[in-house]
Amino acid sequence: METNSSAISLRVNGETHALTVDNRTTLLDALREHLDLTGTKKGCDHGQCGACTVLLDGRRATACLQLAAAADGRTVTTIEGMADGDRLHPVQQAFLDFDGYQCGYCTPGQICSAIGVIEEHAAGWPSAVTADVRPEAGPPPLDADEIRERMSGNLCRCGAYVSIVRAVAEAAAQVAAGREAAGGQGSGAGGTRVTA
Ligand code: FES
Ligand code: FES
Repeated sequence: METNSSAISLRVNGETHALTVDNRTTLLDALREHLDLTGTKKGCDHGQCGACTVLLDGRRATACLQLAAAADGRTVTTIEGMADGDRLHPVQQAFLDFDGYQCGYCTPGQICSAIGVIEEHAAGWPSAVTADVRPEAGPPPLDADEIRERMSGNLCRCGAYVSIVRAVAEAAAQVAAGREAAGGQGSGAGGTRVTA
């Protein structure tokens, strides 16, 4: 193996892949060019637009800013891994139900980011617009301002933001309801459907 290449292992959407990549290869290019997972989009390639958002060990990451070699041994979930068989992830379903897209180019990144947002909110993470950040205050309502702030790293050139906010609010409510029904952790997102 050339010294400017690395042998790495990536666990992507539940499957382990052994790859040899140039050390300069981004995770985005490894997914798209080496694994043919073209659902993850390249917009700016500079960490500005969020089109390349995936979940890396369960947390949101812009794949264009991550070297594949640095992701060796880590777990990646892309848009191709979100559905459960024929059953869409609640965020995917909400984007369909609320027309959260136009051309669809930003949509995989928006959906991955929204899934990350819902998990971060359920874990009690505040955002820059959270009024009361004391841990004992609990998660703030996931209202339109919170969603806009938390999704602000994902740009949509079609300007589908109003529908995206509605879709994320609906999906958050669905996920919270599902958790409550399962007797698990509540996210505090229930009853936060927004109409703006
Ligand atoms: S392509 Fe990665 S942030 Fe734009
Ligand atoms: S739906 Fe076209 S860029 Fe967002």
